[in-house]
Amino acid sequence: MKYFIITGATGDLATTKLYPALAEIFNYNYYTPDIKFIGAGRKEYNQEDYRKLVQDSLSKFTGKLDFIKRLEYAQIDFGQIDTIHKFFTKYNIQSGDEIIWYMAIPPQAFNDVVDTLAEVKNIHHSINYKLVFEKPFGSDLKSAQALNYKLAEHFREEEIYRVDHYLGKETIQNILALRFGNSMFEPLLNNHYVESITIDVWEERGIDKRADYFDKTGIIKDILQNHILQTLALIAMEAPVSIQAEDIRDEKHKLIKSLRPINPQDVILGQYIASDESRGYLEEEGVEPNSKTETYVKLITYIDNPRWEDVPIHISTGKRLSKNKAEIKISFKTRFKYFSHIDEGCNPQQNELVISIQPNEEVYYTVNAKFPGKGMCIQPVKLHFTYEESFGQKSQSAYARLIQDILDSDQSLFIRADEIEAAWSYIDILINEYNISNRKLINYPAGIQSSEIVYN
Ligand code: BG6
Repeated sequence: MKYFIITGATGDLATTKLYPALAEIFNYNYYTPDIKFIGAGRKEYNQEDYRKLVQDSLSKFTGKLDFIKRLEYAQIDFGQIDTIHKFFTKYNIQSGDEIIWYMAIPPQAFNDVVDTLAEVKNIHHSINYKLVFEKPFGSDLKSAQALNYKLAEHFREEEIYRVDHYLGKETIQNILALRFGNSMFEPLLNNHYVESITIDVWEERGIDKRADYFDKTGIIKDILQNHILQTLALIAMEAPVSIQAEDIRDEKHKLIKSLRPINPQDVILGQYIASDESRGYLEEEGVEPNSKTETYVKLITYIDNPRWEDVPIHISTGKRLSKNKAEIKISFKTRFKYFSHIDEGCNPQQNELVISIQPNEEVYYTVNAKFPGKGMCIQPVKLHFTYEESFGQKSQSAYARLIQDILDSDQSLFIRADEIEAAWSYIDILINEYNISNRKLINYPAGIQSSEIVYN
């Protein structure tokens, strides 16, 4: 049997992301009878109340909800190993069974949980274990290294799944298909042809009810350290030997290590303040009164390798901006040799390849085409593909994909220990430079456009 245990079963991550993902994969008929899904937590819950909580979390889900009947709740407290022994006895867990511990719990608890699970493994050593960690994995290089070290003492890397849910998104996985499944893009992706790369992750939402987490974290650690660096690694890495997990992870690791240390002059940090549209960050419930946590970061970075030498990478991400957008844009150098004399109304532009992750899942590129009529007037036009139009369906949610991969032991979409450490080394410089006491934050009104937040 396989036991998929969601620890933190009544928390935010479980209710907002994991139960909808379980519901989704159930509707794809993925469940097999040999997998048991169990919610675990310290609180006492009877099965009926627990299933009701799960059902309530699925109020927007339109598919079948029969899987809820298969969910069970178990009271497990990692501080009391007896509760785990009882769990093993109750479910008659046997040699050869697999237990997946999905840590939907605050990251501060990871260390203690690993200690307990190491003890459990010593006693029940003939069971197969998988440990799944949500981000943030560590809060800086030192803490990530310490956690990796502790894990490596007791578990093999193949047993450890570090989640970055961006990697579960179809549009992010499509970067590999686009680059290595076509001959027309890859030869151009280098400093001979590319003028710049832009990665933006903008959100209209604020911090919801997550002040406790976000105020200690900030957007650099919440989004830049993980989602954006992983996206950049996929778009800029060298071709992997194969598309197997280890080969992809080798190349991502190399790319992240090649990032040039950030120049503080190339960075803007911001925090939203009240506007007509919404309250400011400091007025959010649970935020420290004088908090200097950044809710916005914009920076320019470079990759110090021959392929990307001197190509600027513009990155921006923030909360409470004018719109939701997650997008990668590759801007190519202009070659208008024959069209240098531009007639009025003609407006050729540089070619762009845009991979839109959300809100629209689409890829398009802009090319210049002749405007109909006399003369040679050229104008940019879009050639594009959307998932919905081309494949007749919206893509699966990121978490549904990741859960399936964990069950199938496929680690391609999870982050290896060395990658996570390389990402923290890069981010540490930024965090140290802008430590909380000396940071200067630009106050931006909630709902503003990112482009209006500018370097001084
Ligand atoms: C999470 C961050 O990892 O990603 C959130 O903690 C952010 O702050 C979220 O809102 C964005 O992901 P998605 O897939 O909901 O756009």
